[in-house]
Amino acid sequence: MTAQIISGTELAKEKRAQLAKEVQQLKNAGIEPGLAVVLVGDNPASRSYVKAKQKACEEIGIRSVLLEFPDTITEPFLLEQIERLNEDDSIHGILVQLPLPRQINELNVIEKIAPEKDVDGFHPLNIGRMIAGQKAFLPCTPYGILYMVQSLGVEIAGKHVVVIGRSNIVGKPVGQLFLKENATVTYCHSKTKNLAEMTRQADILIVAVGKPNLIGAEHVKKGAIVIDVGVNRLENGKLCGDVNFDEVKEVAGYLTPVPKGVGPMTITMLLHNTVQAARESRR
Ligand code: GUN
Repeated sequence: MTAQIISGTELAKEKRAQLAKEVQQLKNAGIEPGLAVVLVGDNPASRSYVKAKQKACEEIGIRSVLLEFPDTITEPFLLEQIERLNEDDSIHGILVQLPLPRQINELNVIEKIAPEKDVDGFHPLNIGRMIAGQKAFLPCTPYGILYMVQSLGVEIAGKHVVVIGRSNIVGKPVGQLFLKENATVTYCHSKTKNLAEMTRQADILIVAVGKPNLIGAEHVKKGAIVIDVGVNRLENGKLCGDVNFDEVKEVAGYLTPVPKGVGPMTITMLLHNTVQAARESRR
């Protein structure tokens, strides 16, 4: 058996077409959705992510504004910029690209963002609301993963979801989203013993670690849904995930590629959150 490959690019295209219509409706009602993107320093990966996010905004009609600062700025200065964006009615979403330089405390910055403009879903209030099952901005990568799995039309309730990785951005929240869908969720991480024994129990395996080829055929139950969140750059410049694609595709039922898997969905859910923020700004 060969796994069905889940195309993030295709799914993103459909969802973005729908979002473009919603943006047009908002514009007809006199609201132009606006996203502020804050980039500090000159990290090439951050710069390329920011560029992709702005391009995606432009494609569906969201106005995006880039605020770029050198990596020498102070925390109070950055907090002041966020405060200004919080008060700017033409800005509905604020995204501060992480990581930030060492002299700046990331949590202080995230907490400064008005929760109703926190389209990344990183503010503790949004995280708390998400865990409590209340209405919240959901973090984009976990939300994109849930969207991908839901698009397959398989029942999630009662399934065993195994998450490898426990970052605040992906691992922890993605488990919570699947828990809300009534899955049984297991978290694995660097201290987990007998990883393969755990992962072989997964109906849905989500891998968000950042280690090329961490997951091979021996880690996967036949027919499982495997979501590869890893983005690793190899010495030859090529991108690869955490899953050994060639091996796992022979065992899994569904598998996401890297690139063109989870990545495009992350950006799509950022657009979704920004449109939602703009829609709700009317109230
Ligand atoms: N750095 C790595 N991933 C992300 C993300 O999803 N959002 C932001 N703001 N920074 C990141």
